[in-house]
Parts: sequence; C-alpha cells; structure tokens
Amino acid sequence: MAESIKPWWQHGVFYQIYPRSFQDSNADGVGDIRGIIDRLPYLQALGVDAIWLSPIFPSPMADFGYDISDYTGIDRLFGSMGDFEALLDAAHAGGLKVILDLVPNHTSDQHPWFLESRRSKDNPKRDWYIWRDPTTDGGPPNNWLSEFGGSAWNYDASTAQYYYHAFLSQQPDLNWRNPAVRHAIQDVMRFWLRKGVDGFRVDVIWHLIKDAEFRDNPLNSAFQEGRPPHERLSPLHSTDQPEVHDVIAEMRRVIDEFDSRVLIGEIYLPPERLVTYYGRDLGGAQLPFNFALLSAPWNARSIEKIIHDYEGALPAGAWPNWVLGNHDRPRVASRVGHDQARVAAMLLLTLRGTPTLYYGDELGMRQVAIAPDQVRDPFEKNVPDIGVGRDGCRTPMQWDATRYAGFSTSTPWLPVAKDSVHENVVNLAADMRSILSLYKALIGLRRKLPLLQLGDYVPVTADGDLLLYRRERSGSSLTIALNLGDQPVSIASGAARLSGTILLSTFPDRARETIEGGLDLRGNEGVIIDTSGIYAG
Ligand code: GLC
Repeated sequence: MAESIKPWWQHGVFYQIYPRSFQDSNADGVGDIRGIIDRLPYLQALGVDAIWLSPIFPSPMADFGYDISDYTGIDRLFGSMGDFEALLDAAHAGGLKVILDLVPNHTSDQHPWFLESRRSKDNPKRDWYIWRDPTTDGGPPNNWLSEFGGSAWNYDASTAQYYYHAFLSQQPDLNWRNPAVRHAIQDVMRFWLRKGVDGFRVDVIWHLIKDAEFRDNPLNSAFQEGRPPHERLSPLHSTDQPEVHDVIAEMRRVIDEFDSRVLIGEIYLPPERLVTYYGRDLGGAQLPFNFALLSAPWNARSIEKIIHDYEGALPAGAWPNWVLGNHDRPRVASRVGHDQARVAAMLLLTLRGTPTLYYGDELGMRQVAIAPDQVRDPFEKNVPDIGVGRDGCRTPMQWDATRYAGFSTSTPWLPVAKDSVHENVVNLAADMRSILSLYKALIGLRRKLPLLQLGDYVPVTADGDLLLYRRERSGSSLTIALNLGDQPVSIASGAARLSGTILLSTFPDRARETIEGGLDLRGNEGVIIDTSGIYAG
C-alpha cells in the first residue's frame, strides 16, 4: 500500500529534548547525554519515533548552546563524542531517530572563525561575517534591531567597523552570501550525517540571508506596547529574503546525499510565507516548522481557521506538521489551562501532519515562575518585565517526587516545579486517567491507524466551542470532536456522520461507547470516533 512507502518523518512523532533539563547523570545540576541514554526506555514506552536535541556542541553558553564555538564537537557539560555515539547507537537500536540542532545563522563570538574575522579588515575570514562601516556620524550602518534587544550592530573598536548580530552580541551572524561559509556548514552537516544522525532542525533558517544593500527596515505600524522592542520595525530587509531559498536548496542537496534524512526549518512566518520554505519543486525543507498553534487564541473558530489557512496554503506534495510547544514559548498547559491541555494533545495527535512534542508537555508541565535572582535567559535579562523569559518553559523534567524531581541529585540550573511532587512520570504513568496515559494512548492509536497518520483532513461545519473534523482515506473515516470550552455541548444528528464507536476520549471512561446519530460532549472533552466501523473491532 502507498502508506508503507511514505518516509518515516511523515508518519512518525517527534519529541524535542532540551538537553540541559532532561536528565542529569553526573550531579552537576545540568542534564547531559548519558542522562538521555538512561531515559530512552521512557521515550520508547511513550511511543515517539524521533528525538530532536537542542544544541549539545561546545559553547560559552551565552544563549545556552545556540552560540556555538565548535560545530563538530560535544560540550564537556553534556559529555563526550563517545557518549553521543553511544546515544546514537542506543536510540537506533531502540527504533528511535536522532535529529540535531544546526545553528548556521550565527556562531559564538568565541568561535575560531570569528576570532580570526575580527582580527583585521584583511583577514581571510573577515568576509565570513557581516562587517560594515559606521555611518558618517559614527552610528550603526542601519536601523536593524536585535531580537534580544537594542541595535543589531556591535562596534568593534580595533577595526573601526560594526558587525551584525540578529540575536546577542555574542552571536555574530555568518555571511551566507559568501560561498566559503556555505561550504563550511555543508561539511558540518556531512560530518554528523556520516555519523548517522537522521537530520537537522535548522535554527532561524529564515534569517540566513539579509538584504544585499542593508536598507533600513520600515516602522511596524501594528506594533503593540508590551511586545519585544525589535517588533517596532518590520523585518522586511533583514529576514525572509528570496535568496535564502537557494541556500536551503543547497542544504537539502546535502541531506539527499544520504538515505532517509530530514531537514526541518525553524520559521516564524504567516502561512503563505511559511510554505515557500518547502522550496521550488519541494527541494527545500521537508518540514518547515508550523508554529501557528503556539500563539493561537484558544478557541474553536480561531483554530479551525488556522488549520484551514495552513492546509489551504500547502503546495502540492508538501507534508504538513504541527507544534504545540518548544523551548522558546510558554508551556501549552499554561497557555490553554490544565483541562484544555488534554484537548490540545488530542488535536496535535489527530491533525494531518507530523506532530512535534516538547519534553514535559506530556506530563502537563506548566510554566514555572522564576524569581528575579534566578533568571538565566539572556533575552529576559536584556528585555525584562514584559514576560519574554524562556526559563519558565525550560525547567527540569519531572521524573519523580524526590527533591529534584529525579532530574538530578544536586541543585538544578533552573528550579524544579513545586507541583513535581504530584505531577511526575512515576505518578502519572501509574494513573490511567493522567495526561501522560492519554498521550500514550493517542500516540499508540496514531501508530496503529495509518488513517490518523496519512488520511486527508476534512473539516466539518460546527459552531461555538466545538471543533469538528474527519480524517478520511479510501472509504474509511474517523471523526474528531473537540470541545474547546468548559461547558457541555451537544452535537445533533446530521451535523456530521456521528454514528460509530468512540475509540478514545480525553476522559478515560468512554472508550468503546457506541454513538448513534448524535453526541454529547462534556466540558473540555474530546473524542475520536470510528465513523466507518472498521477499527472498533
Ligand atoms: C532560535 C532558538 C532560540 C535561540 C535563537 C538564537 O530561535 O530556538 O532558543 O535563542 O534561535 O539562536
């Protein structure tokens, strides 16, 4: 059947690990590779197919690993290359793919390339970064702003030029118009692909190429007070430039030199721009991350529209994907609330497209309040008081009820959530009603039913808090009914083909219930219904 020839990254479930916070094996309060190896059985039991690791490479950690000083090493904090190879072997032996983070937009200011580059204007590495003269009054070359606050230009007195950094000044941007830079990063990709990694999640891929003339960005008339200051300008000339697609096509060709690998792009853009990252003739990123749910107003009509707009924007042959959480955005359980987090799980795992889970979301982990003297995130330090801090979604994984939640035996780098005493893997795994059990059931069902992986998405008209859709293929169909409110809703007969058998509910007491012509949903309830009678048996 056609199903079986689909690549693994289309039917699999991805799981993001933030290595600093997953499992500490050497009691230094920071997670590491050995810790991940120890927890592989948990991931296998959860049922995911691939893990993506946020950066584990040598780094001064100004941005916790997104400032890399050696692309082909492992930071001692996380372990050794031997440890990484052991992880790769153990993961593969257990049927798990391993995706690495590739951070090609910028290096650390401690990377040997940048140390060379800043040495003199005629250094062979000078043009590997973006150096510009001051304006006549000595100011920065243009008005571009750093995503982490302030100007995106840093003055280097020794050579009297500015260098560009879209993020921290310790993260100078590479010059992707220079072919030598492209080749160097492509060789980095080959280094890891030869080792056997299954692909990359490419950091801020839409930033790679900037306007050749470095024109000023226009003011953003839609700027709202309380938003990060860089949003005062529209990034018209600093991101999403047409030439970026050539760079990505080259990266994809490197991916295609190897069997069955995947290129994922981190891209925050509206759907019609996002989908251009599949590339001409789909020779771009196989999965341009779709972050629409991260900022979605949590109501049925908004989400219905998000799905509609995204599905409608996809070019022929493009494979969709959905993300509910990551290490940069508030936890889903805090965004949508404890009860709706279960409905969100059912949404993520029943939509058409590859789902990516963020570690701990399967436990319903919440955003943890961080005291001012415990803030670690440089974004929060540079742009305080408006709630951009990312520490709260990066706190230690909650394994058990011990003092440091089983994450470590010494004080963790970020505080452990107080509710970890109850909300932890040991407790939740033993409770059939827990969100963890729901996640396992959803992932298990998705694995069992090709229809959930590969079936078409068919919207069904609904109103109020009800979100209704079918997954259909070759005569079989599932209906998914999600109540995004906390009040009961009734689905009258005729609204959908609502006869069949409930395969799974976000409440664990309804499996196998037979539906005939209509359905009552409790507040915060979602159900998956076998409406073609082929699965229930
Ligand atoms: C991406 C990462 C984020 C990082 C930034 C700069 O958005 O996800 O964590 O701070 O890039 O590398």
